[in-house]
Amino acid sequence: MSEAKRIDGKAFAEGLRARVAARVQKLKEDHGVTPGLAVVLVGEDPASQVYVRNKGKQTIEVGMESFEFKLDATATEGDLLDVVEELNADPNVHGILVQLPLPDHMDEAKVINTISPDKDVDGFHVINSGRLMTGQEAMIPCTPYGCLMLIKDALGDNLSGKRAIVVGRSNIVGKPMAQLLLDAHCTVTIAHSRTRDLAGECSRADIVVAAVGRERMIKGDWIKPGACVIDVGINRIPAPEKGEGKTRLVGDVDFDEAVQVAGAITPVPGGVGPMTIAVLLANTVTACCRSLGIQEPDA
Ligand code: GUN
Repeated sequence: MSEAKRIDGKAFAEGLRARVAARVQKLKEDHGVTPGLAVVLVGEDPASQVYVRNKGKQTIEVGMESFEFKLDATATEGDLLDVVEELNADPNVHGILVQLPLPDHMDEAKVINTISPDKDVDGFHVINSGRLMTGQEAMIPCTPYGCLMLIKDALGDNLSGKRAIVVGRSNIVGKPMAQLLLDAHCTVTIAHSRTRDLAGECSRADIVVAAVGRERMIKGDWIKPGACVIDVGINRIPAPEKGEGKTRLVGDVDFDEAVQVAGAITPVPGGVGPMTIAVLLANTVTACCRSLGIQEPDA
């Protein structure tokens, strides 16, 4: 059998950002409004600093307003809640993202649930989880939403009747991913660390979404021939072949094995990773249009 098609998340994300930029331009021309995204960072976690920098840069590149707020790691939860409340009330801010993880002395759920649900472009607020679960208009978490876009790009829009397995049950990826696939009329299995015969469960699936955070756990012989494999994992492993002390990124799927069996597969890096910020920007445009009661431009 020939090797799987490699799903190019970087290229898809570039295309999505171009469509977002066109929508932003149209909103400026037709309604005199510029969508604004506020990102709040607490502390100095190096990975979070990189994410926040990239978000700010890409927000400006698509023509939106970027607002950044940085608090010391020693700030109190009350300080952070004050910032969130201020942003909730600011009409120029249509999307709010509080970068996670937060320092241990802060209650993440309390902070997230203080964000106005209509500005919660991460889709993490309990109201948005509930709206998604019950088929109401929601803000949809960026990573699973991006995965769905890649799946539809690979398989076509009609996923009805397909068997899908989501490996991982987190609130921010696994559970919303399963709900999105269910809404697309897939037959969905949610698997996790206690699942019996995970290999057998995976091998029945037309769509596999791996989001467990365990490097190369899903093997090639677990994959149904021709299946669509979406790898959300980002795991850093030693790479002595690149030199002493060097590392490289791998996913939750053993790519070298799975690529021989799957029909389509996302690489790591360059698959799901680049989608998250692009979807965040798209969500911000959606939030802006909903807040103003205007139709989202279909660019
Ligand atoms: N930290 C890592 N990824 C994310 C994300 O998508 N949203 C938030 N709020 N924090 C993160």
